[in-house]
Amino acid sequence: MSPLVLWIESSCDETGVGIVSGTTLLADAVASSVPEQVRFGGVVPEIASRAHVEAMVPTLQRACADAGITLRDVDAIAVTAGPGLAGALVVGVAAAKGLALALDKPLYGVNHLSAHVAVDQLQHGPLPEGCVALLASGGHSSILRVADVTADVEPLGATIDDAAGEAFDKVARMLGLGFPGGPAIDLAARDGDASAIAFPRGLTGPRDSKYDYSFSGLKTAVKRWLAANPGASVPDVAASFQEAVADVLSAKAVAACVDVGGDTLILGGGVAANSRLRALTAERCEKAGLQLRVPRPGLCTDNGAMVAALGAEMVARGRQPSGWLLGADSSLPVVEPLVG
Ligand code: KG4
Ligand code: ZN
Repeated sequence: MSPLVLWIESSCDETGVGIVSGTTLLADAVASSVPEQVRFGGVVPEIASRAHVEAMVPTLQRACADAGITLRDVDAIAVTAGPGLAGALVVGVAAAKGLALALDKPLYGVNHLSAHVAVDQLQHGPLPEGCVALLASGGHSSILRVADVTADVEPLGATIDDAAGEAFDKVARMLGLGFPGGPAIDLAARDGDASAIAFPRGLTGPRDSKYDYSFSGLKTAVKRWLAANPGASVPDVAASFQEAVADVLSAKAVAACVDVGGDTLILGGGVAANSRLRALTAERCEKAGLQLRVPRPGLCTDNGAMVAALGAEMVARGRQPSGWLLGADSSLPVVEPLVG
């Protein structure tokens, strides 16, 4: 049987603990502090950290019960070491270190961003060598050349201001659609006309950086448009905004993949759950002769399984475990899939 890897994820507002055997998920227990955060319209770091402390042991117990194992059966521990909320990450890293020490098992501190890419393995099998990934989440929007998701990830471009998910959340708030904004805009846009308003496409001029993104101008454009058109149709604004984001995200990612000679594009991160981004990228990949891999929406948004996927791959590839000095790094760079 493949080694049993127990993972812990606590980078934001969900405490995730699970168990994987190779690429087979045996348990995926999640406790969320979202209900406590909703009234603030966003994640309050201190509330998230305290909720992690309270949820950690019960969630661990639930994961073991779901997988039908005891902690002694575990072969390795993987934990999200960053990036994320510092206080929230510390809780997961401390729990993982304590477990690894007590059980005398190797500890792998993994990168949340690489995990968003690695998760696709759970659905579509091993990643091909030399692929390009579009990572679009609440905090990041990057195009990555992924030679080896456990060791060799190189950014080709990234947002110079807001992340795509952040733009969705902020525009949803302007439209009174609630938090998190991405799914709300996705839903509202279904009844709207995506060509109703020609919102700007950031950094798409001939002299602009080819693989970088900018969403702050778009956000401001929506704000101005709403101020000038108080009776605007919410579905039309949602659909037109969503079209502008999906258009630039997919155009640049497909272009990057073609330019570096990759044959596979992977989408990852919460925004990859967006229905329009998925459809438009599929169309463009087909035209460009690229293979597109997109995990199901539940694997795109933050989930523990992604940490498991990357942790299990670290074990399978015989990577050196992290040392006992492993700490949480709230701004862990994307080029570091495993913290040494
Ligand atoms: O990857 P993720 O779950 O957490 C981070 O690591 O940030 O991404 C969360 C972001 C949020 O900004 C949320 O609004 C966005 O992903 N999101 C979506 C959709 N579902 C989640 N954005 C657009 N369309 C969606 N369907
Ligand atoms: Zn994420």
